[in-house]
Amino acid sequence: MKAMAAVSASFLAVSVVWAQSRSSSKPLVAAAPGYDPAIYAELQKAPAKARNRRNPFENDPHAVAAGAILFEQHCAECHGKSAEGSPKAPSLVVREVQSATPGTLFWLLTNGVVRKKMPVWSKLPEPQRWQLVRYIKSLGGPALRVESPAAQP
Ligand code: HEC
Repeated sequence: MKAMAAVSASFLAVSVVWAQSRSSSKPLVAAAPGYDPAIYAELQKAPAKARNRRNPFENDPHAVAAGAILFEQHCAECHGKSAEGSPKAPSLVVREVQSATPGTLFWLLTNGVVRKKMPVWSKLPEPQRWQLVRYIKSLGGPALRVESPAAQP
């Protein structure tokens, strides 16, 4: 019982720090993988020119695997091993991210959301950023088909 209280207390502490780091004016939100569409508002800010850029790796059969390795190295510690989200960062397997254009995601990676603790990734070479975009996009699909494996024979 004591152990459980300790665990939930530390969990609460993490949630509080997380919520405060996000925005002090917002009410506390549940920790990961809490879903809050407002988190993804930044994606709407991509300028049209950035949004419409094509992914030069769109047809590269190796890009998803390369992106997966990069994700593991740079992103998983916050977003979770399969981008499912963690107390540190939101899930990327949500409609807001999956329906964003490749150019939008590239722009987001390039600029980060520094005030909300999403780092800038401009230090990664452009090809690596595009490979990451391919990987992220491979996780969802148009209708966010997270349950579709059953549909595939
Ligand atoms: C230090 C923790 C951290 C790391 C590492 C990190 N992120 Fe994030 N990321 C965040 C946080 C926090 C947010 C939420 C930002 C917000 O509220 O807009 C976020 C948001 C995002 C979003 C959604 C955009 C949005 O509007 O919030 C994408 C896409 C994303 N990250 C991709 C990545 C990728 C790809 C990597 C690895 C190259 C990465 N992140 C590494 C913390 C991190």
